[in-house]
Amino acid sequence: MASPSNPEILRRASPTQDDVAVKIAKRLDGIELSLIRQINALATPLSVNLGIGEPNLEPDETLREMARRAATTSWRYSPNAGALSLRKRVGEAFGVDPKSEVCITAGTEEGLYAIFQAFVGEGDEVLVPDPGFLSYPTLARLAGATVRTYALEPPSWRLDPDALHITKKTKLIVVNSPSNPLGAVVDEDALNAIAQRGCLVVADEVYREIWYDAPPPSMLGRGENVLVLGGMSKSHGMTGLRLGWILGSQALMPPIVTAHQYIATCASVFSQALAEAVFSDPSWNQQWLEQVRAQFRTQRAAALYAVAHELEVEIAPPAGAFYAFVPVPFCGTVDFAKSLATDAAVLVIPGVAFGKRGEGFVRISYSASIEQIGAGIERMGRYLRGMSR
Ligand SMILES: Cc1ncc(COP(=O)(O)O)c(C=O)c1O
Repeated sequence: MASPSNPEILRRASPTQDDVAVKIAKRLDGIELSLIRQINALATPLSVNLGIGEPNLEPDETLREMARRAATTSWRYSPNAGALSLRKRVGEAFGVDPKSEVCITAGTEEGLYAIFQAFVGEGDEVLVPDPGFLSYPTLARLAGATVRTYALEPPSWRLDPDALHITKKTKLIVVNSPSNPLGAVVDEDALNAIAQRGCLVVADEVYREIWYDAPPPSMLGRGENVLVLGGMSKSHGMTGLRLGWILGSQALMPPIVTAHQYIATCASVFSQALAEAVFSDPSWNQQWLEQVRAQFRTQRAAALYAVAHELEVEIAPPAGAFYAFVPVPFCGTVDFAKSLATDAAVLVIPGVAFGKRGEGFVRISYSASIEQIGAGIERMGRYLRGMSR
């Protein structure tokens, strides 16, 4: 191995943009790894991580057995849109045509990328929630579009369809329900109103199965201009297996499948076989999902209790997903989250990572054990009290 004392090697090991001989493409100007990744990089073994965006779910024996069996099926490419046998299961589960209205993707994220690449270009405007999941504006920029935001306001974070500024240039609007980072759910009237506004509607429903009092209404079936994304990452703790889907009308699907072909060829066939096994056992799946919701109900209660008692703020209980978006009495929440990570060993995500209207808030993920949730929010409270002294 080359000696690390060689300055040339060192220079290459950590290149800055000036060092790199090959110029980075213009489309990546101003785009860097997300604040979520930057905060998570501050984690140490002693940190309580409430910054995480994935569920703390462990597969049970049935799911492990399904995975073992999935590993014995073919390892060859599937059709680009996904194995027809899986699409049939997805079609049954969601009431759509497996041949023309489903595309299986390498996670919801890849599905979003494929949709943006298929439909969005220079001169288009894309309307995204603020605060909202940070991929949406980045994917719009990568596709050459101009980003416009619509405001979600505390304390309810309700989406008011009358406040949406949809113009002739608006190519696509993104709706995320339940929401990351807000935990808010978009009501049925708002979904109907948005579907009727004429532009393409992209509904990110990756948290659809994680709800507390009532299942969130879906955008599915509300118009020919509607695309719905879902996946197994959050509901089944399969974030690393990269399995998602896009559901939409026959007219919209071909360009999506074309874009998806050049991004991923097909989703992992192992993950597809596992997803098919899950959909093929609806009674196990139902029971699994009920357990998942029960676990998150307990964790939500622990988080809300600690937020009220340690941080002394009341927030509207999130209706879905596993995030609490909590106001903190400081403006520079990026600096606050960084010093909280280094000085108090608690990771939370500054709200501004999700858009400028997120400033003044932090996202606490309660995808952690009850002990970790209590300890993390208690440390945060102590740190805040120390700051205000
Ligand atoms: C709102 C939202 N959409 C999409 C994704 C991506 O999920 P997947 O693992 O299915 O790509 C995430 C992941 O955090 C998310 O929070």
